[in-house]
Amino acid sequence: MCGIVGCVAKENCYERIYAALSRLEYRGYDSAGIAMLQEGAGFHLRKKRGYVSNLKGRPLAGEAGIGHTRWATHGKPTDANAHPHGCGKFMLVHNGIIENYLSLKEELCAQGEQFASETDSEVIVKLISRAYTGDFFSAVRTACRRLRGSYAIAVLCSDHPGEVIGARQGSPLVAGASDTALYICSDIPALCGDADYICPASDGEFICIRDGKIQFFDEAGSELCKCFTRVLPESRAETSVSGTFMEKEIAQIPRAIADTLQGVSSLDYAPCARALRAAKCVYAVACGTAFHAALVFGDVVQNTVGAHVVCTVSSEFRYANLPIGVGDLVVAVSQSGETADTLEAVRLAAKRGAFVIAVTNIAHSTLAALADFSIVMRAGPEIAVAATKSYNCQLVCLYYLAAQMQYFRTQAYPVWFLSLRDLPAAAEAAFDCFPQMSALAAKWKDARGMLFLGRSLDLRTAAEGALKTKEIAYVFAEGYAAGELKHGTLALIEEGFPVVALSTRRDIASKTENALAESKARGAQVVLLSQSEESLNESCADFRIRLPNLPECLMPAVAVIPLQYFACRLCLLRGYDPDKPRNLAKSVTVE
Ligand code: M6R
Repeated sequence: MCGIVGCVAKENCYERIYAALSRLEYRGYDSAGIAMLQEGAGFHLRKKRGYVSNLKGRPLAGEAGIGHTRWATHGKPTDANAHPHGCGKFMLVHNGIIENYLSLKEELCAQGEQFASETDSEVIVKLISRAYTGDFFSAVRTACRRLRGSYAIAVLCSDHPGEVIGARQGSPLVAGASDTALYICSDIPALCGDADYICPASDGEFICIRDGKIQFFDEAGSELCKCFTRVLPESRAETSVSGTFMEKEIAQIPRAIADTLQGVSSLDYAPCARALRAAKCVYAVACGTAFHAALVFGDVVQNTVGAHVVCTVSSEFRYANLPIGVGDLVVAVSQSGETADTLEAVRLAAKRGAFVIAVTNIAHSTLAALADFSIVMRAGPEIAVAATKSYNCQLVCLYYLAAQMQYFRTQAYPVWFLSLRDLPAAAEAAFDCFPQMSALAAKWKDARGMLFLGRSLDLRTAAEGALKTKEIAYVFAEGYAAGELKHGTLALIEEGFPVVALSTRRDIASKTENALAESKARGAQVVLLSQSEESLNESCADFRIRLPNLPECLMPAVAVIPLQYFACRLCLLRGYDPDKPRNLAKSVTVE
């Protein structure tokens, strides 16, 4: 969840690390730090609680450096717990969790080591320091052999100016190169504008920057022959925009959907045809917003193809004792492609012999590397922690996948298939709801709780609307099955209680109407989003919001847009930053 960077550059090394850290900040923003190594002068260190911008100031001198932006796991967000951590001749930054850090810490304390932080990471730099007998790389390898858990690290050694060593196990790490700088980094977009060629490391590999070149090594210390690829312009993220990233990313939804449609329609599905046609059982795994997309996929496949899909949040997948095996299909959905829970679910599925299809936004991600077949959406970089355009694009990929499944089974596409091309325009039309959503956010600015109600596919949209509201506006919200309300939750409704209801399925609109009438009778203020003005009785809602008209099964891809915008407005009106919600990080690379 943290972001790390290491850089060797004769000029502007500090500035380059600072720029990369600013782009990695979506991974965590509890604290930030940079250590520079200057030949003849040793280390210069700056680290602080809070945002990367706290590291601004006169650049620290040095030709090699490492930087870190933290999402706190072990130890509070304090200056002392901020990385880099030092010991003797070494400085280290770490992303991941060292699961055996307590026993290592006890062992090191018994040997007389004293710790300056509460982090698990500090044990690594102590182990490296104790293993050092003059060979930097060998010390890092020896220390890594003692670690259990996940890590991506970057290390400096004052005996070796101009060198940075990185290691990867379970947390992402890439090498990047340009004419003027060599890097290791947590992701590719962070090297925007400064690395023309990149090469991801695999688990168990080491990256050594020394003598002006980048080398990869395996666990045994043997050099690996790896290929660098050119960084595509799409991988390059912007760092500053007017307004927030979340607003900008919502505005990009129609374009992102159009790009993704183009991508998925030009993909050759032949490599997964067999799995789509004959899978004994279909599983969908994901976390958070991506899980809501997986749930929509499950409903659509069930309704269109008639196949049952078992949807499980990734963190539960391993413990659910599912009878998964050869002949089964697993669809793993993840914007980042680095979510640890999803990766673990996929590793288990692959081990059992299932065919894995990844739906991700990052072509070079670990998920894409693990999967048998990847569908890469073209949402573009998503910087705000709250997922918006990536959700809409995940749905596009999953609709397309469901349609392919239908095609491989029946030689015919579903009736809604051609309407996929209407999605970009419909997404744009959904922006017409924004003035009403803005007014609603102002009206409900001080609400302490909200309910989002829906049935069937609308329930998935309701759940996503509630998640966005909790995540960035810090208002407790629940996405709830409209029909379940009367079985307990109705007790929460009192005068003025905000209820957002979705009703996009005409055949069950009257059932949703019952739940709204029950809520209104108890004093709830009800806003109803629907594509048809006639579908519901006038009296069951206080406000109506008209959605664009599409085949019902495609409605989740556009019905969510007003809710994304509503959450963003609510957040801004309550005085929070939608791009950096408290306690969270964009990429959850710890279990
Ligand atoms: O990168 P992923 O799609 O795997 O991330 C999964 C969740 O962590 C993510 O969707 C999270 O729920 C969002 N921040 C919600 O807006």
